Amino acid sequence: DISRHIAPSLLEWYDRHARALPWRVGPAEGARGVRPDPYRVWLSEIMLQQTTVAAVKSYFQRFTARWPTVEALAAAEDGQVMGAWAGLGYYARARNLLACARRVAGEHGGRFPGSAAQLKMLPGIGDYTSAAIASIAFGERVAVVDGNIERVTTRLHAIETPLPAARPVIRDHVDAMTPGKRPGDFAQAMMDLGATICTPRKPACVLCPLTGPCLARAQGRQEAFPVKAPK
Ligand code: ADE
Repeated sequence: DISRHIAPSLLEWYDRHARALPWRVGPAEGARGVRPDPYRVWLSEIMLQQTTVAAVKSYFQRFTARWPTVEALAAAEDGQVMGAWAGLGYYARARNLLACARRVAGEHGGRFPGSAAQLKMLPGIGDYTSAAIASIAFGERVAVVDGNIERVTTRLHAIETPLPAARPVIRDHVDAMTPGKRPGDFAQAMMDLGATICTPRKPACVLCPLTGPCLARAQGRQEAFPVKAPK
């Protein structure tokens, strides 16, 4: 199986090409094993649920400047937070954001619980978000699967099963590829690869660190994956 060979090449690429995003630590810190603040990871992942990276950046900067900790956010008035959220859309997210901040501040002493299973019990945190926070902020080896990671994975493994039926198969492959060391960087590297190189149309395979193991590339069928179920 190719799975175990993927993380080393991908992480080497990530160390050179990771997007600099305000919720990440820089490459020098990352290389020293520094992980980002769970509050900032949580806030960014909630904002990114239905909104693009480009749109989220400035909101993230404003929120963290105004409310630098989960306890500060928990103490804010509802109207202030809803006002600051205006423009991001999906306002249920902002309500859950406040409910979650108040739970973490009130019941967890201001510290986010450190496992995906516990995170999932908090408002607004589902399968994807709990896995993303646990791996990025706490280094838990857990499979993180978003739309970009689905596309990259169906190409790497030439998964012929159409979406959505392929989801359990994709999850198993992502789990097998995810390394015990730097699982959060691995997940974010998969996201960056999907966003910048392994794009839906005309993927830039000449720039890709994973052309060696990629089965779709070997078949010259990169754009055939993910296979979509007929409507
Ligand atoms: N989309 C969702 N989470 C992300 C992250 N941590 N980095 C880049 N894009 C993302």
